[in-house]
Amino acid sequence: MSKPRYCLRVCDGPSCGVMHGSERLVALAERIIAREPGLAGTTVVRNYTCFGRCDDGPNMFVQPLGPGDDPDRDPEFEVLERERGFYPGMDETKLERVLTQHCGRGEVVDDLVDDY
Ligand code: FES
Repeated sequence: MSKPRYCLRVCDGPSCGVMHGSERLVALAERIIAREPGLAGTTVVRNYTCFGRCDDGPNMFVQPLGPGDDPDRDPEFEVLERERGFYPGMDETKLERVLTQHCGRGEVVDDLVDDY
C-alpha cells in the first residue's frame, strides 16, 4: 500500500463540529476517497481540534505529508501558516473540488483557499 501524500484535517471543535456539523464533511470525504482510485491510499482524513477561525466553519486543512510526517500527529503551527491548504466555510461541493484538485492533482484551489 502506498504512503498517504495528504492528510485532510477537518475541524471538529465546538463551532465546526457542533454548530456547523463538520462530521458530515468527514463522512463524505471518506466516501469520496474510498471510491476514487486517485485518492484511495493517498489521502487520509483526520479530525483537528480548532483552527481558531470558528465563525467561518466548517473549516479544514490539506496537509501535505512528507516522508517523516505522521498523519496521527497534529501539524506544527508553522505548517498551518506555511502551506496553502486552509479551506474555510466548506460544503459538499467545495469538498469535492478540494479533494479532486488539491489532493488528487496537487493543485491548490485558489478561489477557495484562504490565509491561515
Ligand atoms: S471550531 Fe473549527 S475553527 Fe474553531
